[in-house]
Amino acid sequence: MAEELKISPVASKSEKYDLLLKQLKALCESEKNLIANLANISAALKETFGFFWVGFYLVDDKTNTLVLGPFQGPLACTRINFGKGVCGTAWKKNEAILVDNVEEFPGHIACSSLSKSEIVVPISNKNNVLAVLDIDSDKFNTFDQTDKKALIELCEWIKTLF
Ligand code: SME
Repeated sequence: MAEELKISPVASKSEKYDLLLKQLKALCESEKNLIANLANISAALKETFGFFWVGFYLVDDKTNTLVLGPFQGPLACTRINFGKGVCGTAWKKNEAILVDNVEEFPGHIACSSLSKSEIVVPISNKNNVLAVLDIDSDKFNTFDQTDKKALIELCEWIKTLF
């Protein structure tokens, strides 16, 4: 089966997220492997919105760090400590964090100097964070409440894949 996204370029941002979620659900329901599904989800987000970097960091209980998972974009840091950077903070607080200007976020971890704004959404099962979805933009102020709401909804579904 050919895997091809069908997202109208003239759809609004929230319509694109809705279409994306529906198609990802259909795509992932026939595949039980987590890594394969997370890889396609990051590719689909990058393809639909043209983000600079999209990927997952997975909680590694043995080392109490986040470890780099499937992603699309330039090379990235492989480990992030609990409470560090935007990702480690979203993990610690178990809440989504939207950063308009990464230079103003205390302790931001610059995997790429081109990254200017960022959104991180935890994927959690009750109070237990399993992973975070991290999206970077090479422009300031890229993400708004529409992205936040849609990505929280997306991550609510992604947790069911774990
Ligand atoms: N900027 C992130 C690190 C991960 S990279 O952006 C891919 C942070 O501060 O946690």
